Amino acid sequence: MTTKRATQILPVHRLNEEGPGTKSLPEWWADERSRGTPEAAAVAKAAETLRTTDVPVAFPTETVYGLGADATRSDAVQGIYKAKQRPSDNPLIVHVDSMDMLQRILNPSEEKYHDAAASEQSLIPPIYQSLIEKFWPGPLTIILPNPPHSVLAKEVTSNLSTFGVRMPSSPFARLLIHVADRPLAAPSANASTKPSPTAAQHVYHDLNGRIDIILDGGPCGVGVESTVVDGLSNPPAILRPGGVGLEELRQCPGWENVVIGYHDGSLDVKEAPRAPGMKYRHYSPRAKVVLFEPGSNPDSVADRVHKDLQNSAVGAHNIGIVRTRNWGKYLGLNKGYEGSERTREEPETKKTLDLFKMPVEDSCSGSPKTILKEVYDYPLGSDVESIARGLFSALRTLDSIGVEIIYVEGIADDEGDLSAAVMNRLRKAAEAELKA
Ligand code: TXA
Ligand code: MG
Repeated sequence: MTTKRATQILPVHRLNEEGPGTKSLPEWWADERSRGTPEAAAVAKAAETLRTTDVPVAFPTETVYGLGADATRSDAVQGIYKAKQRPSDNPLIVHVDSMDMLQRILNPSEEKYHDAAASEQSLIPPIYQSLIEKFWPGPLTIILPNPPHSVLAKEVTSNLSTFGVRMPSSPFARLLIHVADRPLAAPSANASTKPSPTAAQHVYHDLNGRIDIILDGGPCGVGVESTVVDGLSNPPAILRPGGVGLEELRQCPGWENVVIGYHDGSLDVKEAPRAPGMKYRHYSPRAKVVLFEPGSNPDSVADRVHKDLQNSAVGAHNIGIVRTRNWGKYLGLNKGYEGSERTREEPETKKTLDLFKMPVEDSCSGSPKTILKEVYDYPLGSDVESIARGLFSALRTLDSIGVEIIYVEGIADDEGDLSAAVMNRLRKAAEAELKA
């Protein structure tokens, strides 16, 4: 892209927090618009951009920020790939505001439905019924057959015979889709390979100058992407772990035997870093991420990190410690350096982090000298919801501070519904998963 665009951040927090209440989406919108609020102006402008241009719009959902485009127009969908600099061989998720909008995708020849309930039954495979009832609107994407003469642009499905669709629980996301009056194709609104954005500032950091509008609805509540399930296969499969967990799915009729249809290396923990060529770069900050298996002994981890800091060959001057359940502050590396604690503000998000400066003897150069290494502490909390919500933000914040290595305390995959999603994203971000 040659011309740099002036990217605007438009605040819409209030709409996201208030939601429609007892009103329908059209009533909510009519009411908001008649009051001429700045939020209404932002939604109208974003919807107009989505309908009439090929430049995507970033918007909040309950999972992560999405980069949305009219899913029915090829040029608009291509705009997503351009802005993200993402290869276009990966199909995108379609977002709808209502079952009615989904029906119009599934049955492009019919304009109106006299009996919406009946046609829902006939067009959506019955296996999905229990999931839709329980999890929609919400962080669950289902795979459906793409109908003949589909209205969806071929770039959305990457020419597959199926498409992924979800109805977000974020009221703001549904309002935007409603006002745009189009299904929106939307991947996460990060630059390709980077951690997904869970705040408007994250989107701005990656896509400033590449898009016109970022709608700022505040931080995302879930923090990891939707669970993608395929009920067209037998047995049904989870294609991506996310905001809805395995156990929750298994409680739904037809999904008792759902299988894990993704591979994230969880079964082959490596003692040594994975071969660089084999690493699937995704969710990766600039810093190297080193993930420790849950149950690793914190003292052994601290020894290992200490050695890395002393070893100039590793080259780390600043490191980040992202901890969850068992690691102490700074992994206890600050013992013996009382009074050395400082704070530092990350300029973009204004988040304040604790750090201490650790003197380390550098014996590599001819004349030994003491170097101060910076150790940043990033506690994610111990419940899985907080860990999921803060994970991507932690990686981004430490990156913007300029740490070279981020050590992360893993959690057990099976200890809560979101834990598989957390570990899946971490394994993809990490260069190594170690046991200590
Ligand atoms: O939470 C989310 O799902 C976020 C927010 C913005 O809604 N969106 C998101 O979209 O993560 P995207 O496009 O990055 O996710 C696409 C995922 C990929 O794992 C892709 O392989 C899968 O959905 N997918 C999409 N269509 C598919 C299809 N027809 N068959 C199999 N997998 C599909
Ligand atoms: Mg993504």
